[in-house]
This record gives sequence, structure tokens and C-alpha cells, in this order.
Amino acid sequence: MERQIQRFLNKLSFASITIATFTLLFLLLRTPQTCLPPASSSGHLRFPKSTCDSSARHYFPLEKKNQRLWSTRTFQSQVSSYSAFFRSLQSLGLLRNHSRVLCVSAGAGHEVMALTEIGVSDVTGVELVDSPPLVSRADPHNLPFFDDAFDLSFSAHLAEALFPGLFAAEMERTVRRGGACVVAVEECGDEEVKDIVMLFKNSKLLSVQNVTLIGLRMTRIVMKVKSAS
Ligand SMILES: *[C@@H]1O[C@H](CO)[C@@H](O)[C@H](O)[C@H]1NC(C)=O
Ligand SMILES: *[C@@H]1O[C@H](CO)[C@@H](O)[C@H](O)[C@H]1NC(C)=O
Repeated sequence: MERQIQRFLNKLSFASITIATFTLLFLLLRTPQTCLPPASSSGHLRFPKSTCDSSARHYFPLEKKNQRLWSTRTFQSQVSSYSAFFRSLQSLGLLRNHSRVLCVSAGAGHEVMALTEIGVSDVTGVELVDSPPLVSRADPHNLPFFDDAFDLSFSAHLAEALFPGLFAAEMERTVRRGGACVVAVEECGDEEVKDIVMLFKNSKLLSVQNVTLIGLRMTRIVMKVKSAS
């Protein structure tokens, strides 16, 4: 009996190793060797800040797909929820129409659309998986932007980050001195807020508020990036 179990376990681990090997091979083969420049010749470079953008390829079907997605009630209600959220930052004086805003881990781009709708003209959204034209592909832990490139950086997905410290450091690095890092996390108390603020080593806490965002009870944490010491 025991030997049978042993044999079964051996088989199982052999199977896992095989699967892992194939997965690894698949990933290796999938990774592009080179990054070709975007095929767009019309001067309409949507994401010049990213080196590896192949999104322009499927433009037409994509437009249809986006129209379908963007017209769903869920999408629209989430966008208007984000709009209300960002208006509150406008009233704090942290966000203006000409602010350069970065949305990190922006998913399908609800927040990008919301910012655009309330009049912010320079909005960049990034996510591991792109959703053109709202969100381009970039690793939140290694953002392809210069230091101080933005006035405000926002994320509702810091808590899901693989390396929250790195995620926060990158948000901070890309925001100019005096700019703001804003995160929305699952509703939490002072202790958790303190832990989160500590991840932003070069910022000071400006405001904490419990809010309802996309139907969820969340805590909005606003931090101001300190001037260089
Ligand atoms: C910002 O843009 C919105 C929408 O386009 C507009 O209604 C608003 O007046 C603008 N605000 C300023 C201060 O220009
Ligand atoms: C937010 O709600 C939590 C309870 O869920 C509470 O502990 C915390 O004090 C609230 N924060 C603020 C700023 O009101």
C-alpha cells in the first residue's frame, strides 16, 4: 500500500517537473529576442515612452472590441466612480488639467479614462498586460520613465504588488519633488496606513480618507514627494 502511494507520488512529481519544464520552455520561446520599433510611421506614436510596444498591429478589431467594452454598464460605472475619486484630488489642489499623471497597474484603463474625462490631458497608464490605447505595457517594478516625469502617480493595486517596496519606490521616483503619490487600498486602520506610508521613503503623508471606490470600501492615502534634501 505504502509503496503504491510512493510510486504514485513519484509519478506525480515527475509530471510536475515535466509541466514546469515545458512551461519554462514555452516562456523562453515566447519572449521576444528583440524589440522592434513601433510600426507606426504616421508620427502617431501613442506610447513613445515604452520600448516594446507592438499594440499598433491589431488596430481595427481592437477599436471594435474597445467600443464594446467601454459601453458596458460596469465599465462606465467604474469610470464614473474613478472620476469622482479624482475630482476629490482636484479639490485638494493636487490635480490640474495640465498635470502629468501616471496610473500604475491600471488594468483595463478605467482610471485613465476617468482622468481624461475630467479634463486631465496628459495621462499615462501602465500594466503588465497592455490594453491599448488606454494602457501600455510596463512592469510596475521597473517603470520605463525618467525620474520626475510626472506630477502625480496613482495606483489602486499596490497591495497586490509582488514587491510593494519596489512598486512604491518606482511610483516615487517617477514623480517630481512636490508632486503626489496617491494609493487606494482596501479599507484599513492607522497601523496599515503607517506601513504603507513607510514604503514611500521619500514622501510625507498628506491625507488619509476612507472612500467608496468602484463599489468597494477603500482607504485613500495621499503622499507628497519631499524636496531633495
Ligand atoms: C479642465 O477641463 C475640464 C474638462 O475639459 C473643463 O471643464 C474645466 O473647465 C478645465 N479646468 C480648468 C481650470 O481649465
Ligand atoms: C477607516 O476605516 C477603518 C475601519 O474600517 C478605521 O479603522 C479607520 O480609522 C478609518 N480611517 C479614517 C481616516 O477615517
